[in-house]
Amino acid sequence: MPFRLLKPQVETIISDTTKSVDERLLSICQLLESHLEYYNWVGFYFANSDKKELYLGPYIGEPTDHTVIPFGKGICGQVAVSNENFVVPDVAAQDNYIACSITVKAEIVVPIFKDGKNIGQIDIDSNTPDPFTDKDERFLEFVCTKVSEIL
Ligand code: SME
Repeated sequence: MPFRLLKPQVETIISDTTKSVDERLLSICQLLESHLEYYNWVGFYFANSDKKELYLGPYIGEPTDHTVIPFGKGICGQVAVSNENFVVPDVAAQDNYIACSITVKAEIVVPIFKDGKNIGQIDIDSNTPDPFTDKDERFLEFVCTKVSEIL
C-alpha cells in the first residue's frame, strides 16, 4: 500500500482516544508490518536519558532478546545519541550492530522527538536487502511526529 494511503490510517489510529497509548503504538506496528511487504519487524524503543538506555515498547515480529539497549550500542543505540535517521542497506556491513534474527538484511531507525528532545525511535527490520529509500524516511518521520503528539 502506498505511503499516501497509509498516512490517514496512521492519523486515525493516533486520534483514537478510546485506546491506550501502547495499544495505538501496537496498531501502528501492525499497520506498517501488514501493508509494507519489506517491513518484517516493526517496533518502538523509548529512552531513559538518566540511565542512558533504550527500552523496547510495542512491536510486531519475532520476539527479541534486546529489550534493553545501552545508548551507543547497535543501530538503535547510535540513533539515541546521534538524533539522526540511520538507514542500513546491509546489516552485515555494520560493525556496531545488534543482530536480532539471521533473516534480517537491512534496518532503518528514525528518532522520535518531543519538545525537541530525542525520546525514542521507530525501528524497522527488513528481510529484503537494501529496500529503504528517502520515501521511507519521510513516511517514518511523519509517523514519529504523529506518535510524539500522544506521548
Ligand atoms: N538491530 C538493532 C537491535 C534491535 S532489533 O533490530 C529488534 C540494533 O542494532 O540496534
